Amino acid sequence: MRDEFDEPQMPESVGEASAEAVAPVAAGDAPAAAELAATPSVSMVPDSIRLLNRDFLTDAANLPDASIDLIVADPPYGLGKDYGNDSDMRSGEDFLAWTYEWLDLAIPKLKASGSLYVFCTWQYAPEIFVYLKSKMTMINEIVWDRRVPSMGGTTRRFTSVHDNIGFFAVSKDYYFDLDPVRIPYDAVTKKARSRKLFEGSKWLELGYNPKDVWSVSRLHRQHAERVDHPTQKPLEIVERMVLASCPPGGRVLDPFMGSGTTAVACARHQRDFVGYEINESYCAIARERVSAAAMAAAAPAAAAVIDAAGA
Ligand SMILES: C[S@@+](CC[C@H](N)C(=O)[O-])C[C@H]1O[C@@H](n2cnc3c(N)ncnc32)[C@H](O)[C@@H]1O
Repeated sequence: MRDEFDEPQMPESVGEASAEAVAPVAAGDAPAAAELAATPSVSMVPDSIRLLNRDFLTDAANLPDASIDLIVADPPYGLGKDYGNDSDMRSGEDFLAWTYEWLDLAIPKLKASGSLYVFCTWQYAPEIFVYLKSKMTMINEIVWDRRVPSMGGTTRRFTSVHDNIGFFAVSKDYYFDLDPVRIPYDAVTKKARSRKLFEGSKWLELGYNPKDVWSVSRLHRQHAERVDHPTQKPLEIVERMVLASCPPGGRVLDPFMGSGTTAVACARHQRDFVGYEINESYCAIARERVSAAAMAAAAPAAAAVIDAAGA
């Protein structure tokens, strides 16, 4: 089934990723930034990031219960996308039964302070949220406005331009840190709000709460971030979830990692990660993306080592 909310698939080729994962770089032997930039095909996936080419539903039993701080789940939506497998060919009751099955496997992996974000569409969000409300505490429904340009669209209903994201927690004592995801005010707005009454307010100095409608452009073909995955999510969205809902050094699970967006967010922000993906070529893309993120993170350390050696 395809519809106006079902983005066209725009494949874009990526280089063949190295399947080889090497140990993380120790500060003492960090390669020079220029050397790293010149060798993009070298895999440098840190040990803290586990990218598993496995089926989450059959492999979940190997993951210890109560070991995860945050689950970011972006499953097939039940809309017939081609992921190189038939995982998105379920619909209706069949899709919902499969959804409840993986949710039942994933939820026990969370710690008592843990939480879950699940991406879905308006067609199935009501049933999925009702099911999750029977197991967890609902914190938010986030609407991702994909900033779809206005170009005709459907004529028998209003054009759908958003994805629904359910945010649920194991208990009311869930971890949540707003500060790293506050949005700073620009100078003009800040000045306009700088009345005596607001002086010294944290929200004015550090920025405001991103609220529950997230307006972030989908990754169109020309986007610098875009790789060869039909439903790759913007890093900006997933980073916000990781920063707000997983403590530094904590552990994130992505049962359907696709091109590895959640893994990249974790590599960039020092969170451990375990992810599952059944399509080997998407795993290769994830390895390449995580390697690039780890190399970018290592580059300043390498520069510092070179500086110290030259001093
Ligand atoms: C919506 S995509 C995830 C996209 C990802 N968030 C990204 O930014 O690239 C869902 C992915 O789940 C994978 N998948 C489907 N069934 C799976 C299963 N049982 N275990 C692991 N991965 C699965 C599909 O191959 C597909 O790549």
